[in-house]
Formats: sequence, structure tokens, C-alpha cells
Amino acid sequence: MSLTDCRGVSHTTNDPNAIARLELATARCASYIGDPLAPIEEALAVDPDFAMGHAFKAGIAVLVGERSSRPLLAAALSELERLSPRMNERERQHAGAARAWYEGDMALAVRRYGAIAVDHPHDLFALQLAHIGDFYLGDSQMLRDRPAQVVGRWDPSLPGMGYVLGMYAFGLEETALYARAEDTGLRALALDRRDPWAVHAVAHVMEMQGRTAEGVRWLAATEADWSAPGGEPCALAIHNFWHRALFHLDRGEIDEALALYDAHVRPAPSLVALNNVDASSFLWRLRLRGVDVGARWDGLAADWDAMRDDGFYAFSDAHAIMAYLGAGRADAVTRTIEAMNACAAGQGTNAMMTRDVGLPLSRALIAFDRGDYAGAIDALLPMRSIANRFGGSNAQRDVVHLTLTEAALRAGRGQLARALTAERVELRPDNGFSVHLAARARDLA
Ligand SMILES: [Fe+2]
Repeated sequence: MSLTDCRGVSHTTNDPNAIARLELATARCASYIGDPLAPIEEALAVDPDFAMGHAFKAGIAVLVGERSSRPLLAAALSELERLSPRMNERERQHAGAARAWYEGDMALAVRRYGAIAVDHPHDLFALQLAHIGDFYLGDSQMLRDRPAQVVGRWDPSLPGMGYVLGMYAFGLEETALYARAEDTGLRALALDRRDPWAVHAVAHVMEMQGRTAEGVRWLAATEADWSAPGGEPCALAIHNFWHRALFHLDRGEIDEALALYDAHVRPAPSLVALNNVDASSFLWRLRLRGVDVGARWDGLAADWDAMRDDGFYAFSDAHAIMAYLGAGRADAVTRTIEAMNACAAGQGTNAMMTRDVGLPLSRALIAFDRGDYAGAIDALLPMRSIANRFGGSNAQRDVVHLTLTEAALRAGRGQLARALTAERVELRPDNGFSVHLAARARDLA
């Protein structure tokens, strides 16, 4: 027997309560507010054969993007296999996408989740999985095009349209369509202001356009909507505070940035890779600026170490190496590089990411750390334009360009430094830090 949800998507179950729990879980996942798994566990307690409940758990494991989620994914896949003869075609598509992810073919998994959204434009969870999958793949075009494929099939009467617009806004931003991105993000928030992804998309526009004062104001003004709104945890809060800290950095407001870091970006030890990526990236940017961050690297390196995620996702590996270098943990650097080398020699999407981007970037970070700025330049120049292949956003990958620029400045390569800083000033003329870097380059040249 099947029932349809509030968006008209059909699910194999005869329990209306399971559908209600799934709708709550989907809303929590799309909003990044609250625990999406709790209502799914309630649904499965009542109906252990609720296929979409297991597919949802598999999808959450995909979203986590770290090794620790593999047992959850394996268990969900096992249940989906058991239920396969009774599932509908869309549920089987979910199982097939999750299976591809489990087997290391991230690109195939994302295409499969995207195909569900093509066939079922109101499957909000499938669209979000494809969208975040595109983020993990660094596929800017599909970050924009997947939401574009379906947004016209939605209207404001359907619960969750704001989230579709929020995803679309982020994709428009990542493809440099800034005016449309900002407008679309604001439309999303007009439908539902508690949409941290839409807030985040607008913040990205301001980041990419160097609108640092506006960025600080924007995130401060919306903070109540994404920082533990209603007392509920928001999975994007740390990342949005990280964006605000970056705005302060680029305004030269180091004390404000560090205060935000201590209070909100890393308020406590964390074993969540995406949180630690932001922390590493922030502290590395301070290091590039010559700011002493005290003992902050040590705890962060210890958390990366405890996760033992080496060789699972190149984007995380490179950020872990920043922390290990900052903390002087040569043993952990060596161990991570060995794991990355082993991964690069294998098959699957992360092998490509590690070969093409993760290892060259890590070698550059190691060279920079020992003062071999020419070595860092040599490692970064060939990969800077393909850095998207290991995922993340343009703002996150800016750490590559910042490292290259600082290496050129410290190596005394005046013409290269002038060229690199010219890129930054051309694109973000109002960004004070870019102007500062350009002045240093001019003095050298
Ligand atoms: Fe971001």
C-alpha cells in the first residue's frame, strides 16, 4: 500500500504517522534546524518496513560526508535490499544512489539523486542530496542547474518551495550570477526566513563581491533565524559564523574575528569534519596574515587526529593537514599523506580528488610550512584552476589562492604577486584585504 506526502510524492507504507514523521524529518534536513533522524527513528519503530525511512537514513549518512557515517549507511542499505521487492521505483532509485555513494562512486550517486529529482520534482530530499552532492563534487554548474530544472514545477502553496529557491540561490552564486543569486535568496527568505542555506547564499554573494560591511550586518541581522532558532541546534550555524568571521578578517578586524571563532566557530571540541574544515581554514588564513593564534591549533589537530578520517575525502584531508602543520604534528602529517597516497592509487571519485587536488594542495601547504615558498608556488600553480574538483565552495577554495598569493609575496616573486593580487582587486575592488595585498605586491615589483 502507498500513501502520498504533503508534496504529492508516493511512499510505500500504510501508516499515515510514518508519512508525518518523514515530512518533519525532510523539513528539518532542508532547514538544517533540529535533528532529522529522530522522527525517522520514531517512524521506523512503528513501521520497520518503511522504505523511505531507511532511504532517509542512507541519505543523511551521505550528507555527513565522513567515514564515521559508513555504518549508518551500510545498515540502511541492508534494510533497503531486504525491502526492495516491495518498494516503488523512486524508492529503488534512492537505494541505488546511496549504494553508489557507499561504493565510492560519488559522481554516479549524485547523478542518481539528481535523476530522482528530474522524475519527481517534488522529492525535496532527493533534490537536497543531489545539491549537497554537487557541493561535495565542486560542481558549480549543477549546483545551479539542478534547482533550475525543478523550481518552475513548484509554487508557494507546496511546503518547502523556499528551500528550493535557497538551493537555487546558492547555485546562482557559485556560477557568479550574483544579482540573480541575491534576489533568489531574498525570495526564499520571504517564504520562510528560517532558511540558513538561503541566508548563507546571500552571504556568499557579499563575500564574492567584497561587500564586507554588508556581510557583517547581514549575518548579524539574520542570526536569530539560523543560530539555534527556538533553542534548536542548526547544523549550518558554525559555517555561517565562519562566514561572518571572514568578513571581519577582510576588514582587518582580527580581534572580532578571533572572538567569533572562539565563541561560535569552535566553541568546543568537535568530531564533525565540516566544522573542523571551517576551523582549519580560518586559522590558516590567520597564519597567512602572520597572526599568532596561540594554542588554538593544538586542540583542533587533536580532534582531526581522533576522527581518523584520513584518505576518506580529500577536501577534509587537506584541511586536517593545515591543523597538523599548525600544531607541529609531523607524525599526523606523514600518516595523512600516506593514507592519501594509498587512496590516490585506488578507484573512485575521491581517488581522483586526491590525485588532482588533495595531494598537490597538501604538498603546497607542507612546503609553505617549512618556508619553501617557491615549492608551494610550484605545487599550487598547476592545480589552482581545477581545485573545484575536490569540492567545497568558491569562498572555501579561496584559501588556495590566498596561500599562493602569500607564497609569491614571501618568495619575492613580485610580478607573480602583482598578477595574483590584481585578480583579487579586479573582482573585489572594495575588499580592504585585497587592496592591502596588492600594495605589498606593488612594493615588491
Ligand atoms: Fe559557505
